Amino acid sequence: MSDRYCVFGHPVGHSKSPRIHTVFAEQTGESLRYEAIEAPLDDFAGAWRAFVAEGGRGANVTVPFKEQAYRLADVLSPRAQRAGAVNTLMVGKHERVYGDTTDGVGLVRDLQAHAAPLEGARILVLGAGGAVRGILEPLLAANPAALMIANRTAAKAERLASDFADLGETTGGGFDAVVGTFDLVINGTSASLGGELPPLPDELFADGALAYDMMYGAEPTVFLRWAAKRGARTVDGLGMLVEQAAESFFLWRNKRPDTAAVREMLRRSR
Ligand code: ATR
Repeated sequence: MSDRYCVFGHPVGHSKSPRIHTVFAEQTGESLRYEAIEAPLDDFAGAWRAFVAEGGRGANVTVPFKEQAYRLADVLSPRAQRAGAVNTLMVGKHERVYGDTTDGVGLVRDLQAHAAPLEGARILVLGAGGAVRGILEPLLAANPAALMIANRTAAKAERLASDFADLGETTGGGFDAVVGTFDLVINGTSASLGGELPPLPDELFADGALAYDMMYGAEPTVFLRWAAKRGARTVDGLGMLVEQAAESFFLWRNKRPDTAAVREMLRRSR
């Protein structure tokens, strides 16, 4: 019987992960089944245990279970420890549960695929929640000149900046503290979901700047529409979704799928 994998979320019906991983399995000739499971909000650990008892070998974890998955893992990767969150679980030797996060590396791979300015760039990250904590380490590993975190609640951005100050030049503050221009602006707030836009200065983008929204949808987000009007190149988070999935697939199966093909397939079908 083929190995079982799944994505846990709540809600999870809209998830593209089953489709992505099914195509990855076809591409690489791996025999596996991948499904979406809506875990109860108050018993993520129980849902995971039941899945493993029925032959589950690994799982992706999405909103709102990433912190619970972090607590459940027996062994954490250094990057998951730093992120304080887990999006990939796998059953390892002696049935130990291994937790990792592939969101940050997924973002950076997608940025690289779009030739985004990274090394030596001035980067602005909007938001200071769990999603942003998960991307800071790989972003700083790309050696930007400076990275600023701006958030509605300034204190959260300041704390995050100081938590990561050992990895590079980081500053944090409120949106009103944003000054100067940036080569790369990443929206990691959930403001897009409600159709809202953080209050930002009009002169935000340097020449050739890229605006990236970690969210994606059938239509461009409010942030990307705003950025396009100000001359920035825009990219949504669909590619990040595919890249983080590919990194999880690699952890489980030790094979690297063709992400460009899957990204194109998803773009065509939405
Ligand atoms: P996630 O896991 O998606 O990061 P989170 O930890 O709840 O979720 O963080 C949500 C982020 O979006 C926060 O940075 C939040 O700002 P606050 O820290 O001030 O709450 C930001 N956010 C949510 N709605 C927003 C809005 N309407 N305008 C600006 N920022 C918003």
